[in-house]
Amino acid sequence: MIFALSLISGTAVADEGMWLPSLISERIEDMQAKGFELSAEDIYSINQASLKDAVVLFGRGCTGELISPEGLLITNHHCGYAQIQQHSSVEHDYLRDGFWAMTRDEELPNPGLTVSFLEYMEDVTEQVLDGYESVMTEEERTELIETNAGRLIEKAVEAGDGLRASVESLFYGNRYYMFVYREYSDVRLVGAPPSSIGKFGGDTDNWMWPRHTGDFSIFRIYADKDNNPAPYSEDNVPYRPKRYFHIAAGGVEEGEFTFVYGFPGSTREYIMSEGVRYISDIANPFKINLRTMRLDIQKKYMDSDQAVRIQYSSKNAGVSNAWKKWQGEMKGIVRLGTVARKQAFESRFMDWAEGTEYDGIVPALDSLYGVLEPYNYALEYYNESARTVELVQFAARALSAAESGSDSVLKAVEAAFYKDYCLPIDKECFVAVMNAYKDDVPVDFRPEYFDSTLAVYGGSVEKWADDLFSTSVFADRAALEALDCAGVAALKDDPAVVFGREFSAWIGENLRPAVARVNSEITLLNRDYMRGQMEFQPDRTFYPDANLTLRVAYGHIKGYAPSDGVYYLPFSTIEGIMEKDNPDIFDYNIPQRFRDIVASGDYGRWGHDGKVPVCFIATNHTSGGNSGSPVIDSRGRLIGINFDRVWEGTMSDIEFDPDFCRNISLDIRYVLFVIDMIGDADHLIEEMTIETE
Ligand code: ARG
Ligand code: GLU
Repeated sequence: MIFALSLISGTAVADEGMWLPSLISERIEDMQAKGFELSAEDIYSINQASLKDAVVLFGRGCTGELISPEGLLITNHHCGYAQIQQHSSVEHDYLRDGFWAMTRDEELPNPGLTVSFLEYMEDVTEQVLDGYESVMTEEERTELIETNAGRLIEKAVEAGDGLRASVESLFYGNRYYMFVYREYSDVRLVGAPPSSIGKFGGDTDNWMWPRHTGDFSIFRIYADKDNNPAPYSEDNVPYRPKRYFHIAAGGVEEGEFTFVYGFPGSTREYIMSEGVRYISDIANPFKINLRTMRLDIQKKYMDSDQAVRIQYSSKNAGVSNAWKKWQGEMKGIVRLGTVARKQAFESRFMDWAEGTEYDGIVPALDSLYGVLEPYNYALEYYNESARTVELVQFAARALSAAESGSDSVLKAVEAAFYKDYCLPIDKECFVAVMNAYKDDVPVDFRPEYFDSTLAVYGGSVEKWADDLFSTSVFADRAALEALDCAGVAALKDDPAVVFGREFSAWIGENLRPAVARVNSEITLLNRDYMRGQMEFQPDRTFYPDANLTLRVAYGHIKGYAPSDGVYYLPFSTIEGIMEKDNPDIFDYNIPQRFRDIVASGDYGRWGHDGKVPVCFIATNHTSGGNSGSPVIDSRGRLIGINFDRVWEGTMSDIEFDPDFCRNISLDIRYVLFVIDMIGDADHLIEEMTIETE
């Protein structure tokens, strides 16, 4: 049976929501009332080129957009970071100095990087549930869905080169949509500002307003002669997009309409109070604690050695990012009283549900969360501790490469690892996180191997680390590189291999199945609970939780009051960069060239009342994955590039608060200023269509 869900909107709640582009006609009146001047067909159409054709999923978790008829693409600096770092060394430090391809020949290929255009999306609920009968078990239902979805996908991808498709559940399995993408794999690096601009403010300013980060990088998509996806080849030519963004360089004002078009990764707006309590009271605190230790250790080594700074820059940013977000999220949940509000909602829901098919769902969910908690805690703890030991992960990867028998694959795995490895960091982190593991994870929820090995070292994690890091062959580069596949494959008893294997086997047998089983029961009940919430609140507007599928969020440019007596303006300018500038602080040390330009006061075409705008905030509902998303004005033109949210609003993945939730975008005029006056790459600007009115 298929439930008819009304996706038609009631009254819009502030600017909350991440809407499906193919259903945007249901929102278009509200968008137009708020200032949007185009039609639903301009946003998403399968009959004509529309804005969706200028938006891509960049890599596996960012968004990018086309900005020239010759395949030029812009995304965040932090989204291209791994690529920029891959091309960097102490001699060519593109992270530190920036990179600008002055000719097409200088554009750098990036094996493994792909971009995906959404060809179309379609509601396939009926097809996916074809053959479903209510007597089926959940396993039978899942199997049916997989078979039906597999068939749909197979058919969809037959239609052309480079197509890939996926069927995704929305509203907790009440709806299914198929997304068909065309994926391009020849994507070359064209430009990146120095990190002192692209990462200005670093992790100090990350997730914060006021912000002055020039967080962008530029790539170009290449295609074969027929404009189809093709693996990297010198013969490939720049991709010709169906649609690219025109750039509005005329400036934006507070109150102006904006919309963000991109791929938010994951939100959980409809889960019950117990799920939120676990996140804010249990999971976030211990994860933050473990990461604080690792970050402190990394920082110590990075501060004293430039080579280590390059090696660990990307890893460090990855660890730091969620670490800081979780802290803001916890605070936001506490401030909003989300747990208590959800509890109050649940009690109203239960009253209403009495005697309906939804009777009993909330208590059942509640008890499932109780069953889940100790298992989930131990699993997540493992993920943030034992599983973060770099040497152990590497040993497992190298062993499996060796077992595959390809010497070239094995050598590539080794080279990639050692290029960015600093053993003293890894070892100190091992000691820190495994000591915490010993103290925090109950004996029944950790492998016997852990306790018996620890006993061998008299209970000392330090002694264990000394032994492991000095006897593992994987820790000895020269010794390992001297081995061929057979030699490496024989290292099955190496202590790093054993550590990884014992942990993952025990976790795989004792925690994962329990977590998976309870989670699947929760998912099943959430399906009913979601539908129940929709019936209970017929006038509320529901949007599906984010799941890395293309969405539209709209709002307007607006400041906010983070605390009593303080109001934040929605714009930042180049003057703020000068205020923060400090050659002695790594995160705030801008290039000398930048200082000279500001001293001269000559900002070329990019000045605005004697300043250059840098970033702005707005009320668009965004999430991780929206990095690099186009921020679009009422006429469909690019005014900015989304790259962050404000700290006080990071709980928007769980509860959106119109007073505090703001997305942070880079003002496109600052991007142009940097390309032109810092990069001297005005040939790129010439490719773009810039409108100043
Ligand atoms: N906070 C932004 C996001 O979630 C920017 C991340 C850049 N990374 C960093 N560690 N500064 O992705
Ligand atoms: N920086 C985030 C990203 O990489 C976007 C910020 C957010 O989570 O809203 O996707």
